[in-house]
Amino acid sequence: MQTEHRLYYKDARSLDFLNDESVHLVVTSPPYPMIEMWDDTFIALNGEIGFALAKGDGRAAFTLMHGELDKVWRELFRVLKTGGFACINIGDAARSTGGRFQLFPNHFRILQSFWELGFDPLPVILWRKQTNAPNKFMGSGMLPAGAYVTLEHEYILIFRKGPKRQFKTEEEKRNRQESAIFWEERNRWYSDLWDFKGIRQNMADADLRGDLRRRSGAYPFLLPYRLINMYSVYGDIVLDPFLGTGTTTFAALACGRNSIGCELDPKFAGFLQEKLQAPDLPGVLNEYHRVRIQEHLKFLEQYKEKGHQPGYVNNFYQFPVITKQETGLKFYQIDEIRPKTRDCYVSFYAEKG
Ligand SMILES: C[S@@+](CC[C@H](N)C(=O)[O-])C[C@H]1O[C@@H](n2cnc3c(N)ncnc32)[C@H](O)[C@@H]1O
Repeated sequence: MQTEHRLYYKDARSLDFLNDESVHLVVTSPPYPMIEMWDDTFIALNGEIGFALAKGDGRAAFTLMHGELDKVWRELFRVLKTGGFACINIGDAARSTGGRFQLFPNHFRILQSFWELGFDPLPVILWRKQTNAPNKFMGSGMLPAGAYVTLEHEYILIFRKGPKRQFKTEEEKRNRQESAIFWEERNRWYSDLWDFKGIRQNMADADLRGDLRRRSGAYPFLLPYRLINMYSVYGDIVLDPFLGTGTTTFAALACGRNSIGCELDPKFAGFLQEKLQAPDLPGVLNEYHRVRIQEHLKFLEQYKEKGHQPGYVNNFYQFPVITKQETGLKFYQIDEIRPKTRDCYVSFYAEKG
């Protein structure tokens, strides 16, 4: 198996380099409207936003910022295949403008936009981002009635374009079965509350971490890694129109999916080139499979200790699994990542024994 990973340093408001119905999955996180760190990004997209903010007209700024994101959402609807999914990570903003403090409900505005485009909204994930920061409580402290509850969660909005995807041929069915996840992973991953605190599987984060990642609103590796496993199969094409430090590309590489990343700011090019050519990258990404298998074996011990018996055996690894759906599950590990051009990389895989 091999996959291809393309990078474009372009404005995602026009994805004219992509054909209609050409990608299987979108996983992304846009710049967040009304969060100060993204003000300049939005002002560069539309100068009116700067005037609205300067006037203290937060509602006008919010509307204009989402107007720019809407152009990207329209493009996503065009390039996504029928039956494909879009997963959008977004947080709301709480901010004072014109002397008034209020919530700017980004998740609600994006949901509405996708709804109007014709996407089918699906149950959302609340990503709990608990913080111990002393400034997490906003407003008048212990005195009623001007204190506000904390903002310690973000959303992962999930949409499907059109009817369910069909897996018709024997080859498509086999590939879907190989792409299965473990039963116990299903129980955690398809839950509406995600809390990555205390999760060990953050090796790639540790390795990809850097000053640029901290300053760029990067999401944890585990976020696109889970979503890609949940909403696509081996060999699919995953698009991130707001690529930033490339977390989605790295997750797609680990998951044996092709990827397309689009990023407006060319300052990420050097960072991505360096990370994609790092000799230890295959090892870092492959570690995920090893840990998942290890955690499955640990889970089996606990399952048996509780007096349960797994009902099936995985065809490839010969270890017990809980359901028939996991019998075809198989991991592919990266042998080598080779640059084809500066902005295109090919990854070669072998079955993980
Ligand atoms: C929240 S960050 C994404 C971070 C990314 N998920 C990661 O893990 O590094 C949003 C990114 O969108 C980029 N961006 C903003 N407007 C854009 C546009 N019109 N087209 C493409 N990228 C854009 C910003 O430069 C920023 O890197």
